[in-house]
Amino acid sequence: MDWRGKRVLVTGGRGFLGRHLVRGLQARGAHAIPVGRGDADLRDRSATRLLFEAVEPDIVLHCAVQGGGIGWMREHPVESGRDNALINVHALDAAWRSGARVFVGISSACAYPRQPATIPFPESELWNGRPEPTNDTYAQTKRLMMSLGEAYSQQFGLRCAFPMLANLYGPGDHLTPERAHVVAALIQRALARPEALVVWGTGRATREHLYVEDAADGVLACAAAAADGVDVGPINVGTGVEVSVAELAEAVAAACDYAGPIRFDASRPDGQPRKCLDVSRMQELLGWRASTSLAEGLARTVAWYRQVLEQEPT
Ligand SMILES: NC(=O)c1ccc[n+]([C@@H]2O[C@H](COP(=O)([O-])OP(=O)(O)OC[C@H]3O[C@@H](n4cnc5c(N)ncnc54)[C@H](OP(=O)(O)O)[C@@H]3O)[C@@H](O)[C@H]2O)c1
Repeated sequence: MDWRGKRVLVTGGRGFLGRHLVRGLQARGAHAIPVGRGDADLRDRSATRLLFEAVEPDIVLHCAVQGGGIGWMREHPVESGRDNALINVHALDAAWRSGARVFVGISSACAYPRQPATIPFPESELWNGRPEPTNDTYAQTKRLMMSLGEAYSQQFGLRCAFPMLANLYGPGDHLTPERAHVVAALIQRALARPEALVVWGTGRATREHLYVEDAADGVLACAAAAADGVDVGPINVGTGVEVSVAELAEAVAAACDYAGPIRFDASRPDGQPRKCLDVSRMQELLGWRASTSLAEGLARTVAWYRQVLEQEPT
């Protein structure tokens, strides 16, 4: 697909993933239009429609999400569900009304059932059970967006793609304790040179970690395929590499030159025992795969984090 001159509206375009998407779009010669809460509160239907109609996008990349990490979601299941449902419905409808041809709604691996029968999770497992209870309402808003998107495709011909992303990490990640995901939290702790790097749980649970620049590249591959008329719909976008929490802690320690002991606090919960995406549909349909290894991605993230520390006032 030729991105040059395409008007691409990026909701949440100044967020963690959004900023990398905007950079990727600019590198491809597209006209990226990042918007945030200051431009329109997407919970407001009229404000959303006015914004989209003013922009007249060819393509919408919908990244906006109301939320503040797992802790916030656990304590605010209503806002997590209500606000994101409104945001997703309004963005999808406004995209169609404003004449966009393609809508890419960023989804998440958390939309999968808590315990899919098949690991790694193929897309066919998506609707086979309820999501993990701690992020259930949030996950349901991703499901609503994907299901409604399929309806807009069928009824109105809007071309939709819903990349279900693995956990993201990389430069620009959230660092505050309330927002930091496992990789950013571990890096900060390892660089503080503790006597022992204490990790919650047994270390045996597995997760998948996707470098944010790869995620942006994968999302743009989804958008390009949808623009070319490929029926993308909900699609896994990840590495397909299952990493135990213990392996992750060792990799972070190596990236941070931390030589102290790593201890596992087994009194803390492990959460879902295994989490990993089957990326075969992504590879076949998009001809795309993630190119950054965990070691390389962590090295770049640590370098970025060291810069952030240097710039902080002492
Ligand atoms: N981070 C991950 O590990 C991960 C994993 C899987 C999927 N995802 C998905 O990837 C997408 C992007 O996530 P992220 O981590 O980049 O999120 P983020 O950094 O929190 O960015 C979210 C953006 O949404 C905007 N926003 C929030 N509420 C809004 C509202 N009411 N109206 C308009 N804009 C609003 C914010 O705008 P302001 O800049 O104005 O505050 C912010 O820039 C989300 O759909 C998320 O579910 C993320």
